[in-house]
Amino acid sequence: MTMKTIESAKFLTSFCDTAANMYRLGWDERNGGNISMLLDENEVREYLDTTRVIRKIPFMGVKAASFDASPLAGRIFLVTGTGKYFKNIKDDPKGNLGIVRISSDGKCAELLWGFTGSGRPTSEFPAHMMSHMARLAVDPENRVVMHSHPTHLLAMTYVHPLDTAAFTHTLWQMGTECVVVFPEGVEVLPWMLCGTDEIGAATAEKMRSARLVVWAMHGIYGAGKTLDETFGLIETAEKAAEIYMLTASLPRANTITDAQLLKLADFFSVTPRPGILTPNEEHQR
Ligand code: 13P
Ligand code: ZN
Repeated sequence: MTMKTIESAKFLTSFCDTAANMYRLGWDERNGGNISMLLDENEVREYLDTTRVIRKIPFMGVKAASFDASPLAGRIFLVTGTGKYFKNIKDDPKGNLGIVRISSDGKCAELLWGFTGSGRPTSEFPAHMMSHMARLAVDPENRVVMHSHPTHLLAMTYVHPLDTAAFTHTLWQMGTECVVVFPEGVEVLPWMLCGTDEIGAATAEKMRSARLVVWAMHGIYGAGKTLDETFGLIETAEKAAEIYMLTASLPRANTITDAQLLKLADFFSVTPRPGILTPNEEHQR
């Protein structure tokens, strides 16, 4: 059976298009940001001989004893390479992306395609794998984990309290649809050293309750069933942060009240994260 060329695979072209959009929006300067997407093995087999491992790549930045990806053993991911520029992904997917399978002992990635030369998965691979495990536990249809450095969200972490409830409340107030798009709110982590299993574990812990996790003074993690869902979550939070940054230093004349946010949640049948909205708070700023 002749195989189809992988460059034509929808999962690859939409991944490249998403990376190009992220770059275009200024979320991924230089090598900033990374994406991983869980692939369907049967679909991958239409394009690749999955028995042929090009090379085995040990995980970076992790203590072997404390990082265990074995729950994902055998699962196949399309992932961006460390040090690779989002700007270049669409023109050279094979040099900037890789398709890897998690080894049976969960200790390394088996390269099936891409990462030409000596490329390897993003340095945030531990955070991605731990986040996939956390999201799959609450949503078996989760496929995508996405990290980027959106300008206004990052700016907001310099001037706004880094408290999950306060941060969520502000973002919800900055756009009528925010509470509908991310009713579970955003989780916020303090500044931590990136590329380590510590930040991976902290992110994954937060991913149990939300699809968005802000990394203070660094960026954001998003997770979702599809590239569009995940991109759309970050895009909506980033837009809200932009409105905040445009208005934070001005006197506030108007706002969306908690009562109005509750009305929205009710109308769109979503449950806002408890403990953030106060009913009957008609004129709250
Ligand atoms: P990588 O180039 O290793 O993916 O790192 C980029 C990044 O944003 C680190 O947080
Ligand atoms: Zn980053």
